Amino acid sequence: MTGREEDAGLAGKVAIVSGGGAAGDGIGNGRAAAILLARSGTKVLVADRDLKLAERTAQMIADEGGTAAAHSADVTNEAECKRLIEAAVDRYGRLDFLDNNVGIGSRGSVVDEAPETYRRVMQVNVETMFLLSKHAIPAMIKTAKGGSIVNISSISALRPRGLTTYSTSKAAVIGLTQAMAVDHGKDRIRVNCICPGPVYTPMVNRGNGMSEANRRQRANASVLKIEGTGWDIGQGVRFLLSNHARYITGQVLVIDGGVTLQGPARESQDH
Ligand SMILES: NC(=O)c1ccc[n+]([C@@H]2O[C@H](COP(=O)([O-])OP(=O)(O)OC[C@H]3O[C@@H](n4cnc5c(N)ncnc54)[C@H](O)[C@@H]3O)[C@@H](O)[C@H]2O)c1
Repeated sequence: MTGREEDAGLAGKVAIVSGGGAAGDGIGNGRAAAILLARSGTKVLVADRDLKLAERTAQMIADEGGTAAAHSADVTNEAECKRLIEAAVDRYGRLDFLDNNVGIGSRGSVVDEAPETYRRVMQVNVETMFLLSKHAIPAMIKTAKGGSIVNISSISALRPRGLTTYSTSKAAVIGLTQAMAVDHGKDRIRVNCICPGPVYTPMVNRGNGMSEANRRQRANASVLKIEGTGWDIGQGVRFLLSNHARYITGQVLVIDGGVTLQGPARESQDH
């Protein structure tokens, strides 16, 4: 391979995006990735436990002339994960890419958190990625002789701030990514991870009923003083799934406008 511009390797390929729905016409991280992949010619199966939300994403893609279908799946359920993978292969003949995007939030310390909430967050944020990958990887090997997976973690894994169970689950996503990358490099499957910073998606809007002041505060947490969006994360997903990232595996891409670099302001010029 040379240094000239290579084909991104996305056209004609097939992707599954889990949690690819989003409320209304909002742009969640999964919906953005699905739309961007489809703009590059990838056929996308958009999976969500809420079929209507997935259908809206698929419709948005169809309206732009892309190829997508919606699939209803609760990916905490292994049988539904297996059916989702089979549905992609049945419909499009192959499976190349998986965007493991499903995740839910939580708040509080170990003292505050109920054990059942801890188990639920670990199940939704980590086990879903385990289950989908478990069934996607053999399908990728069989139908595409390789593939690429992106797991969505969070900067909460790197810089915990009062979301202890969420941070724990997202740190596990990084460990899972690195282990899967080592296990499946021989199968020509790359596995990477994205840690989004605070991006404005229907999840944060719905969860926090976020005010304009909250949004400004979140934007100001970045060194760029701008608010992240689902598109910023979707661009990272598309890059990592593409051939442009052919030599990248087991890595963590932080997309946060520099939020994790911020510390307390220095009061003087003294070091
Ligand atoms: N928004 C942020 O600021 C932010 C920051 C860091 C990381 N993240 C991560 O990005 C990912 C997507 O976040 P978002 O903000 O776009 O979320 P979102 O809530 O807007 O979208 C997630 C979708 O997942 C679906 N879903 C939830 N549980 C499911 C299940 N069991 N099976 C199938 N579908 C299910 C929901 O119906 C929803 O449509 C999550 O993993 C989240 O933790 C988000």
